[in-house]
Amino acid sequence: MATDQIVTSQVPEQASAPDAGSGLVIETRNLTKVYRDFWGRRKVAALKSLDIEVKRGEIFGLLGPNGSGKSTTIKLILGLLFPTSGRVLVFDQDATETRKNERIGYLPEESYLYKFLTTDETLDFYGRLFDLSGEERKRRIDELVELVGLQGARHRQLKEYSKGMTRRVGLAQALINNPDLILLDEPTTGLDPIGTRDMKDLILSLRDQGKTVLLCSHQLSDVQDVCDRVAILHQGELKELGRVSELLKVQDVTEVHARGLSEAAKSEIAEVIRRHGGTVESIDNPTTTMEELFLNIVRESERRPGARRVTSDPADVDTPPADDSTKSRAQK
Ligand SMILES: Nc1ncnc2c1ncn2[C@@H]1O[C@H](COP(=O)(O)OP(=O)(O)OP(=O)(O)O)[C@@H](O)[C@H]1O
Ligand SMILES: [Mg+2]
Repeated sequence: MATDQIVTSQVPEQASAPDAGSGLVIETRNLTKVYRDFWGRRKVAALKSLDIEVKRGEIFGLLGPNGSGKSTTIKLILGLLFPTSGRVLVFDQDATETRKNERIGYLPEESYLYKFLTTDETLDFYGRLFDLSGEERKRRIDELVELVGLQGARHRQLKEYSKGMTRRVGLAQALINNPDLILLDEPTTGLDPIGTRDMKDLILSLRDQGKTVLLCSHQLSDVQDVCDRVAILHQGELKELGRVSELLKVQDVTEVHARGLSEAAKSEIAEVIRRHGGTVESIDNPTTTMEELFLNIVRESERRPGARRVTSDPADVDTPPADDSTKSRAQK
């Protein structure tokens, strides 16, 4: 996916009118949702008195285990569900005001795309729903196909797509109306590490364009990498809310990164720490993430096709057969 694209299409004028001025794009007040069964009996309390505020221009994460109420919250924001009690305001209007959805892009948890259409046809269909002109649709489709990296497959039917490719079309569909608010339900599901990184970069680039993003996920690293603030839900209840950087800060540990230190310098530093009453837990080389390692290997392989890079792994090295004396000692 190319992430440095500027998304510039126009949405209908009335729909992009400025908010009344609270600076909040989403506000939930005491939001409660109880699903009922066919006879109206209480079945599941999916959301209990949720109070969150999402500000304009931020990336907000809803984090929680399966069944914690993330998708329910998104559907309430879209007005697809009605609250049992409490309210949701979006752009200072009640969420049930469906006109506001013209300014919202939505990537659902499951794709509801027509399998016999191609990417171009799919996007054209959604462009028509938003009343974009033929010229506008064409320009927008070209932009989005490139943005999500589907240039090579745009004329194939979606039934032939892999999971990750379908997710990319879903994202392009969510952006067709150049929305101000983008709701992403598990955006990285089915994406490989490269697709995941692209998706994260894309989400960050949306914020750079002044968009507001609410994403829900149980992929902790996704949330950590892109979100400004998060709400953690469990069994429909808000358990934690705050800035990611603050929530993850380990208060009583100090981290110092340095290059080129000799062993002598390291022991001197350890000595200084001890003299000041601190304890040294480790002075070691930092590890990279598995994501970083994987991406480096793939990039290297793209640069130099055919080259093999295998870091020697002690477990792989052929161990010379132990001599009899060693063997017998081990067996004793
Ligand atoms: N249409 C429905 N009818 C009855 N119960 C429902 C319905 N939709 C969701 N629920 C229940 O509401 C609770 C919250 O579901 P929700 O889909 O919002 O969770 P989630 O956090 O998105 O989970 P996941 O990570 O699995 O997508 C669950 O207990 C679920 O079984
Ligand atoms: Mg869900």
